[in-house]
Amino acid sequence: LPLALHGTIIHTLDASTLEILQDCLLIIDSDGKIEKIFKDTPADKVNACISQAGHSPDVFPVKYLRRGEFLIPGFIDTHYHAPQYAQRGLGRDQTLLEWLENVTFAHERKFEDVAYAKRMYTACVQAGIKQGVTTASYYGSVHVEATKILAETCLEQRQRAFVGKCNMNRSSPEWYRDVSAEESLKETRELVAHVRSIDSEGKLVKPILTPRFAITCDDTLLSGLGRIVDETPDIHVQTHFNEAVDEMEYTRQLYPQFQHEADLYDEFGLLGPQTILAHSIFLKEEEMDRIKAKGCGIAHCPISTATLGEFMMAPIREYLRRGIKVGLGTDVGGGFSSSMLDIMRHAFIISKARETFTKGADPALKLNEGFFLATLGGAQVCGIHDKVGNFIEGKEFDALEIHTIGSEPCGSLGVMSPIEDEDSIEAIFEKFLMTGDDRNIAKVYIAGQSVKETA
Ligand code: GUN
Ligand code: ZN
Repeated sequence: LPLALHGTIIHTLDASTLEILQDCLLIIDSDGKIEKIFKDTPADKVNACISQAGHSPDVFPVKYLRRGEFLIPGFIDTHYHAPQYAQRGLGRDQTLLEWLENVTFAHERKFEDVAYAKRMYTACVQAGIKQGVTTASYYGSVHVEATKILAETCLEQRQRAFVGKCNMNRSSPEWYRDVSAEESLKETRELVAHVRSIDSEGKLVKPILTPRFAITCDDTLLSGLGRIVDETPDIHVQTHFNEAVDEMEYTRQLYPQFQHEADLYDEFGLLGPQTILAHSIFLKEEEMDRIKAKGCGIAHCPISTATLGEFMMAPIREYLRRGIKVGLGTDVGGGFSSSMLDIMRHAFIISKARETFTKGADPALKLNEGFFLATLGGAQVCGIHDKVGNFIEGKEFDALEIHTIGSEPCGSLGVMSPIEDEDSIEAIFEKFLMTGDDRNIAKVYIAGQSVKETA
């Protein structure tokens, strides 16, 4: 720091606007913010631009990106269960509630051991950064100490994160639940205070209230969480929302007084512009109106909703059409992959299935729309779009340096489609999104600092 980069940047301005800008010069200031973007700047004009910005070219070592290399905003994973990192891949052909009971709670229980938590969370956050996730919204386990460790680990590795302790005081085995609503609330307050003490300005890591879902929270617990929201208006909230048939049915049995889940969470004061609702598959008209009015965001998790229980397709295009905020989530480990590239590809497949299923009324997502959801859309859902999500002067520099040309046969890097001489930048970008992997993510910057170096 400071830093200057010259080459191609690719980002979105909104769901339908992709910008590919070649010959850009980005100047990143010592706070990690994008100080200046010079467009249409050939390499021989770089020093003049640096001087024009009031700096000496000598103190700005410029990194020149070559053909096949470009910058994109960091990926934002809006829904991730950190204690499920080691259970990815387990548990097909079960309904959601069976999978929680048979696979998940036993895995999450292991996080009562803080040494295990440190080891596993270190691996989980490292893998996220390696795969280009610059921001993640994490569910921890029920354990407050392990969840503090998760927040500390994100801060140590400089990943931007929201971290929450799961609130759950019923409908799970006795060996894996909060002992009471009061204890759950007390520990939640303790976690919020801890996260705010380790990152006092909330620059990277922030607390998030995490009622697992209404099934695991009685009304004392939900109303207590609502009180915390009242007292702390800037606090974030996340939960699972209209995810699966068995989940919705059981929720109705437990809370028969509510018409639907939007009513339920709203009644307890948990719906607001800082609320992330995972899945959101079966929303009634009224629920869409409510969450739009409240400004909630949706974490679309196409892998887990297609593989856990029945194959389900959230009507993402309908949400976008209505102006509801939408981002993407891996939902590790309900989702088997921690790669946002995989998630984007599955979002394309699921939306294609919806297109066929609705006889074209609900058209498939376009490439740039999927890319928007993984970057700026996710930033909107997390309420950090004024800070990250695309390359705008004044925002923080959360970016991935993508390399696509290497020394494998045919010049490819890793196993992505080889880049051929005639390939346009549009083709190179599409090949990366559809066939690239973490080997093509050469560098990761978070708030201007390099946190992954391979080249
Ligand atoms: N609903 C309640 N808990 C979970 C979970 O861990 N994963 C998913 N996908 N849904 C849930
Ligand atoms: Zn989940």
